[in-house]
Amino acid sequence: MLYEKEESDVNISEDELLEIEKELEELEKGKASRKGVGAEVRRETKTVGITRVSTGVSELDRALEGGIPKGSWVAITGEPGTGKSILCMHFAWAGILAGDPVVYVTTEAEFRDVVRQAKMFGMDFESYRIYDISSSKEPSETPNIVVIDIFGLLKIARQMSEAIPTDAESARKRRFAALDIQTLVTAIQEAYKILGVLKEGGKTPARHVRLVIDSMSAFWADKPAMARRYSYDLKISTHRENVTAYLVSQYAMTTKSTFGFGLEHIADGVFHLWMDDVESSKEVRRYMIIKKMRMTNHAKNAFKVDIVPGKGFTITPLTE
Ligand SMILES: Nc1ncnc2c1ncn2[C@@H]1O[C@H](COP(=O)(O)OP(=O)(O)OP(=O)(O)O)[C@@H](O)[C@H]1O
Ligand SMILES: [Mg+2]
Repeated sequence: MLYEKEESDVNISEDELLEIEKELEELEKGKASRKGVGAEVRRETKTVGITRVSTGVSELDRALEGGIPKGSWVAITGEPGTGKSILCMHFAWAGILAGDPVVYVTTEAEFRDVVRQAKMFGMDFESYRIYDISSSKEPSETPNIVVIDIFGLLKIARQMSEAIPTDAESARKRRFAALDIQTLVTAIQEAYKILGVLKEGGKTPARHVRLVIDSMSAFWADKPAMARRYSYDLKISTHRENVTAYLVSQYAMTTKSTFGFGLEHIADGVFHLWMDDVESSKEVRRYMIIKKMRMTNHAKNAFKVDIVPGKGFTITPLTE
């Protein structure tokens, strides 16, 4: 086990939950009033156009009026094996081709495995400059992509424990708190620095960055009740208008109500993936639907998903 379990966080009290709900409500209210103003603006911006970011999957871009509105947070939800990680690879790859700096957080695999998997679909990340945040060497040139995997998160957690003077027990906990939302936030800020996108002393990237977090579920695996709180904390401290993000949330149908919705509430868009029950269909049949996407008249019907060697994630409209 690479991290400490915070048993006390698992049993959060009803009062704490109520407080979280209240804060989230306030956030939603703020959003709603901004939406009111936005409604006016939207009519105008429609003609001048919204900057859209490619998903790297051409049919999906078409279903989104050209792509995701820049600065959106998109939750990718779904059960195991539905193609969430591959969809993330396409998004990162499209970023590299567009010249966007990419921050890629993977809690599921080492990035080498991501590279290997992506290569099977014609995305050769290795032909670009990859910098692993756990590396002990400084990058010699500005990288195209900064990778944060579990080792990178551990390194950041350790640095944080050294930087903050505290008692021995807390320091020990902090040292191993790799799957802690504060560690993630610090690691992402560090990645922005390495990519050279921050203005002097600032926290806001001065140019467009793509952020992938695969997956967020790892951060609340042992405390599902905290999903909304963590999603909210991350959004508050990381969300900038120049950051377009993919955030993966894994869940099976049975655990959906506890795990999935934390992220969906704070997301500007949701891509939901699923598959038919394999026992009755006796084959893997995957689907995807765009559940929401702000400022977009997106396709409302589900798509059939095929993962094709040499090509990757493809979608075709369902014809019934
Ligand atoms: N080279 C390939 N050619 C065709 N299909 C492939 C290839 N490599 C992987 N796949 C398919 O992609 C699936 C994995 O997709 P992916 O890793 O994106 O799922 P996921 O939704 O991220 O799952 P999890 O929740 O377990 O992380 C495999 O189960 C396999 O069916
Ligand atoms: Mg995955």
